[in-house]
Amino acid sequence: MTKAFYLTTPIYYVNAKPHVGHAYTNVLCDTIARYHRMLGEPVCFLTGTDEHGTKVEKAAVAAGKTPQAYVDELVPHFEELWNALGITRDFFIRTTDDRHKKYVQGVLADLEAKGEIYKAGYKGWYCTPCESFWTELQLKEGKCPDCSRGVDRLEEENYFFKLAHHQAWLTDYIETHEDFIRPAHRRNEVLGFLKHETLEDLCITRPKARLRWGIEYPNSPDHVVYVWFDALLNYVSAPQFAIPGKKEADFWPADVQLLGKDIVRQHAIYWPIMLHAMGLAMPKMLLVHGWWKIGEAKMSKSLGNAVDPTALAGKYGVDALRYFLLKEVTVGMDGTFSEDLLAERYNSDLANDLGNLWHRVASMIEKYFEGKIPKGSADALRPPLALSTLKLWDEVHSLMLGFDMRESLAKMWAVIAAANQFVEEKKPWALAKDTAKRQELADTLYVLAECLAHLGVLLQVFMPDTAKKILERLKVQTYQNIRTAQDYTKPLLAAGTAIEKGDPLFPRFEEKVP
Ligand code: MSP
Repeated sequence: MTKAFYLTTPIYYVNAKPHVGHAYTNVLCDTIARYHRMLGEPVCFLTGTDEHGTKVEKAAVAAGKTPQAYVDELVPHFEELWNALGITRDFFIRTTDDRHKKYVQGVLADLEAKGEIYKAGYKGWYCTPCESFWTELQLKEGKCPDCSRGVDRLEEENYFFKLAHHQAWLTDYIETHEDFIRPAHRRNEVLGFLKHETLEDLCITRPKARLRWGIEYPNSPDHVVYVWFDALLNYVSAPQFAIPGKKEADFWPADVQLLGKDIVRQHAIYWPIMLHAMGLAMPKMLLVHGWWKIGEAKMSKSLGNAVDPTALAGKYGVDALRYFLLKEVTVGMDGTFSEDLLAERYNSDLANDLGNLWHRVASMIEKYFEGKIPKGSADALRPPLALSTLKLWDEVHSLMLGFDMRESLAKMWAVIAAANQFVEEKKPWALAKDTAKRQELADTLYVLAECLAHLGVLLQVFMPDTAKKILERLKVQTYQNIRTAQDYTKPLLAAGTAIEKGDPLFPRFEEKVP
């Protein structure tokens, strides 16, 4: 059986409800997953929740609950959000799943047996919010070099994972695999770090006296496993029990692992070294995206500026939120979130451009052809509009293989603009007045309907609800595999088919919300 196109998101801490930043990662990943499904490839899309560690334990204590009860209550919010946003994950992993815990313990026992893990005394400084150990030299003015908060002096026995002796291998791997970390500026940052700093072995346990909420270290009941070591392993543990009968080789290596720029060190340094030590192949790509910000600050629960994606999807529609997130920034760059901008894009790109195009074309087919697709002449698919519609596949295909959702949408919207322009130029209402121009009228509306049908096919990847409406109203089969330009360019509409105009795709926002 062919290996699945395997893609993952980070697994989210369950210390608060998810916000727009979390929704962004999953919308990106879902769009890539849908694209590859459309290509007819078997796809495995994994997301989930990271449930152990200090952050979650503290949040549970603050809520007056046990950590298990706390996470059990919060996890459904994640699942509900992914359902609401049309996130077509194949599996949702929770790190409190016993099967995951066993897998982690098995890996630790193996690595210890191979000499990759050792036990030693630790003396140094610890930043609790970052869960990071620092040496005296690494501190900046006595504070955590990452977050500038105070650090605590620690002296304790722990287990350590050997990072240092894999540094040369990792540097060489990244240098010789240009696509391993993308975009390039992130790759350069990691390489710069590896060339100028010496990696210290990673402390991968916490004494239970300090943290109880974690996976027990094998044969050492006084220690729990460091949350990142536990969490990163989800990417290889989950599919083994998610898909019964599957082995590592059926999905690993991952094709794309998506992550935000805040967690590059863990994914581009710890994770590859863990895999290397375990004898597993490297993921093909770590795709690092930027942050959604509010003004200059990262959107985050702890800064109190988190925006609720459920409320936005309720107000503007799921597809409007997906469109905004995908179209507003290029993957890898930061974006400034503002609801005003979302409302503006809704009115201009969705209501005015796409919504209006549908409404005009469907209304005119209703009015001039009794709601049936007119029969185009042999030359009907000749105008530049038809050609640019049919060329879209080639353009979007290469952009999507490079994960450029923004430019893909821009290409599609250029065709939408051209279609609206075509209506202005052809003036079907004038053609309708002249019986000698009946075929020209039929050709005009036929081309426009074909254009909408082809856009509908591609939109399935980005805006699934809208795509479904367009295709169903035009009676075009949904979710067919589009593997090649030929699959895409064939005409989709049958003359004489009765279409449905339906409600406006994107009612003007002022009308929708009183
Ligand atoms: N639990 C770890 C990840 C473990 S993966 C083995 C974690 N969780 S998190 O909930 O804090 O954040 C996870 C991801 O959420 C980030 O990497 C990023 O993908 C996404 N985002 C969180 N805030 C974000 C923004 N403001 N903007 C964009 N993405 C953001 O780190």
